Amino acid sequence: MRIKLLDFNMAYSEAGSGIPLLFIHGYPLNKDIWAPQLKGQVGSTRVIAPDLRGCGESQATPAPYSMDLLADDCIAFLEALKITQPVVVCGLSMGGYVALSLARRHASRLAGLILNDTRAGADSPEAKAGRQRSVDVVRAKGVGEIVEGMLPRLLAPSAYNDNPALVQQLRAIMESSSVEGLAGILLGMKDRPDSTPVLPGLRLPALVIHGTEDQIIPLSEAQAMQAAIPGARLAAIHAAGHMPNLEQPELFNQAVREFLQSL
Ligand code: MLT
Repeated sequence: MRIKLLDFNMAYSEAGSGIPLLFIHGYPLNKDIWAPQLKGQVGSTRVIAPDLRGCGESQATPAPYSMDLLADDCIAFLEALKITQPVVVCGLSMGGYVALSLARRHASRLAGLILNDTRAGADSPEAKAGRQRSVDVVRAKGVGEIVEGMLPRLLAPSAYNDNPALVQQLRAIMESSSVEGLAGILLGMKDRPDSTPVLPGLRLPALVIHGTEDQIIPLSEAQAMQAAIPGARLAAIHAAGHMPNLEQPELFNQAVREFLQSL
């Protein structure tokens, strides 16, 4: 499905009815990563999964895309869908940076926050330089090098070695990324603010979910966020890397269901 926002058309998938649950994908990914959650196993919810600006089937606009711009896009998207009640937002990795921006800028629109394999901190100077190199590579050579460099790190080693269907599914998702979309996201992540100081002031139910074998963002980041957010809980998903919703969907969905029941 597609919906018109101010300066681009946003693609999205949706399923079910109940409390709105907004899933925000990571980089360089799209809404299709939420297939196991769109199957209706996260409780009585209206699951909504957009392709962020420039990702998947959503139109790209010229780079950069700040995390705040992407968060504002999510609010415009909810308004276009006429969803006025507060939503639970679940952001994976870069989607978590967007979710933290939503918590900072639009707290009254949120009923709960799920931070999934993400971190609160900003990029280090080295990471910023790496983002710029990636932008240069994408613009010079297309998305292939980024996809092949990232793919082995997205999954736990056992899933990467033993689940070729999942590896192929992720490769196809990543290869469908557009050059301008990836550049926009990379430049936005590079300049995102440090959200660590925001965490102790969050006044909404929060769940931190993290794969214990995440090779991109270590579990210690999740533990630090849980400790900093008042009342937050942590669900550590064993035998999962950066994508527990795909690697261990039953455990992931159960953690989300329990969180929703607690609201
Ligand atoms: C993601 O999965 O969204 C990215 O790995 C986040 C990042 O590069 O910081």
